[in-house]
Amino acid sequence: MKQLTKTLPVALLTAAAFPAIGHASTPALEEQLAELQHFQVIAHRGASGHAPESTMAAFEMAHEWDVDYLELDAQLSSDGEVVVFHDDTIDRTSDGEGAINDYTLEELKALDTGTWFNEANPDSASDDFAGAKMLTLDELFERFGHDARYYIETKSPQLNPGLEEALVEKLEEHDMIENGRVLVQSFEQDSLLKVQELNDDVPLIQLVWYYPSEEDNSKLVEWTNVTPGTSEITDEDFQAVADYAVGIGTNYLYDGQPVIDADFIQQAQENGLPVHVYTINETEEMERLMDMGVNGLFTNYPDRLLELVE
Ligand code: G3P
Ligand code: CA
Repeated sequence: MKQLTKTLPVALLTAAAFPAIGHASTPALEEQLAELQHFQVIAHRGASGHAPESTMAAFEMAHEWDVDYLELDAQLSSDGEVVVFHDDTIDRTSDGEGAINDYTLEELKALDTGTWFNEANPDSASDDFAGAKMLTLDELFERFGHDARYYIETKSPQLNPGLEEALVEKLEEHDMIENGRVLVQSFEQDSLLKVQELNDDVPLIQLVWYYPSEEDNSKLVEWTNVTPGTSEITDEDFQAVADYAVGIGTNYLYDGQPVIDADFIQQAQENGLPVHVYTINETEEMERLMDMGVNGLFTNYPDRLLELVE
């Protein structure tokens, strides 16, 4: 847990901030939720600015730097294994092509998910990255166990039927929930509610993405309509999210223009929802959002963010 060097300029959360957690919470889970009141450094796909995203090298680096959360995207192989991978297809970050869900774990394990990074980032390239293997969630949990916290996205739920069940099974098998080790995030409210139905102790983060409406581009809308646009959002809208989630993860910019401001952040917080913003890589922007009172940032460069906190 990191404390800000500077005082947060807006109200922090109240004692009634976490209504979404079920009855069976543990001291470790309560501690995790209390720590969401402090600023969280969230390593987006690991230290993915320095090493190939979602690989062990990227997570090792972030873990070594003592980030608060390792962020990752969970998907299913065709034979039902939970794997750590962002895109719906394997084309961009491996030497294969096609939909990730069309491949068995054995086939996915045969891919090289590191060389693309060396080619795209010659300044950060390393022989160690070449030939990096796609990770399973089991492998990540076995490596860091309860010595890390994991911020896991149910990625593309429609393309990954059964993902929520498989994920919750893994979380339970590795005792991650009662030990306060995990947040589950999704853009899809239904996916979060499914996770909650499977285990109502799992702390959930509702992801949102605001962008200009096609009909009236002076007005912002939310991708899945989970809330109205930011200019129309009410306390009731935030409360509806706070009924099942312990926080909200949002974009800051669309096409270079801010889509949220300090009022949005404060209103979310006053309704019991800490605000985490993705994906912030420039120091100046990190500082701006910290001054606006955000509760955490997703970044590919956790080293830059860690320099701003103590
Ligand atoms: O999960 C927060 C952020 O990672 C959402 O965007 O596309 O990077 O998964 P994406
Ligand atoms: Ca993600």
